[in-house]
Amino acid sequence: MPDASIPAAPIDVRALREREFPHLDGHPPYLNAASVAPLPERARAAIDAHNARRSAVHQLRSDDFEPTLQRARAAAARLVNASPDEIALLPNTSYGINLAAQCLPLEEGRRIVVSNLEFPANVYPWVQVAKEGRARVDVVPTDALGRPDEDRLLAEIARGDVGIFGLSAVQFATGWNADLEKFGRACREHGTWFVVDAIQALGCIPVDVRAAEIDVLATAGHKWLCGPFGTGFAYVRGELVERMEPRVVGWTALESSADLTACVRYRWELVEHARRFEVGTQAWQDVAGFTGSVNLLLETGIERIRDHVFALIDPLAAWLEAQEDATIVSPMEAARRSGVFCFRLGDTERAYAALHRARAVCSLREGAIRIAPHLYNTAGDIGRVMEILERRDGW
Ligand SMILES: Cc1ncc(COP(=O)(O)O)c(C=O)c1O
Repeated sequence: MPDASIPAAPIDVRALREREFPHLDGHPPYLNAASVAPLPERARAAIDAHNARRSAVHQLRSDDFEPTLQRARAAAARLVNASPDEIALLPNTSYGINLAAQCLPLEEGRRIVVSNLEFPANVYPWVQVAKEGRARVDVVPTDALGRPDEDRLLAEIARGDVGIFGLSAVQFATGWNADLEKFGRACREHGTWFVVDAIQALGCIPVDVRAAEIDVLATAGHKWLCGPFGTGFAYVRGELVERMEPRVVGWTALESSADLTACVRYRWELVEHARRFEVGTQAWQDVAGFTGSVNLLLETGIERIRDHVFALIDPLAAWLEAQEDATIVSPMEAARRSGVFCFRLGDTERAYAALHRARAVCSLREGAIRIAPHLYNTAGDIGRVMEILERRDGW
């Protein structure tokens, strides 16, 4: 158990890049983990090795199948402080949010509440529930900078008629990092299911599903988790799994499919665990890569990654504070900030175009430049961004 009173040593980014991210060297800064992060070498090696055995097909072994999934579920569970039995391996966040929308028990007359300006993956699955006539969806206005309004959201939940509250742990266009424990407590108190889209948090910001009393959490692997495209998972709280029947049913969800030598003795007996939400054959090779990526982050330490990312952002934030025409959209208080750092500066689109021309990779989201550094970035990467922004005659 690490001693919390001893600060962790900073990440040795040089060594990490050499080992896991060698292709970043010799290029302009890559600051776009909020869109896509690079795949570490160990993940690529795991995928390649799996595919190589598949090519030389006699080399495929039993360990390439179910144990590969078990290792991925275990890694995902460690990441969010869950049990592997509460993890379903899914292709993306949308699938996990739809799973919540379609399978969570919802009493008649109960509402669904989300904040305005959520990423669409955390909106349309709820709209679908409304279209089916199963619940009304209420969208709560944000503050002037587009961040969720915590007080108004809590007040909605406190009305006691909210069936499901859906929230991103970290907002994609402001980086607002929700107080999940506070929302979780309010949801538990008022009989509301708490559904969290964690894709912009996991891998950079610690998330503890138990402490935050989350009912369903969904993520994909390709952003801060540095995993392959088409990987991800949902956490479904253990006690809830039994109460939720999958609406999209894969043969793997049924106990009677486990024995492939005699699987046509059909019986409607769902597997006990969150595995019941997995649908059919998995992309085994990518799941193997996903485990590699998540284990790299766990070995590095999520708090350590967070501290590293905040330290990278700080000088840019300080420089922006001193600019008359800059607005920092992201909260900077320790508890509300995240790895997603958004700001406006003068003619923001022109500033972004200058970064783009210099091939510094970041994003333009909802009128703000979004910088998302990760464990592999250096102070030099952020320094280069500041250099470009400082030279306004070059925009
Ligand atoms: C908050 C949030 N949720 C979900 C997604 C992606 O959803 P999916 O994994 O279904 O593609 C993104 C970004 O693409 C996002 O920023």
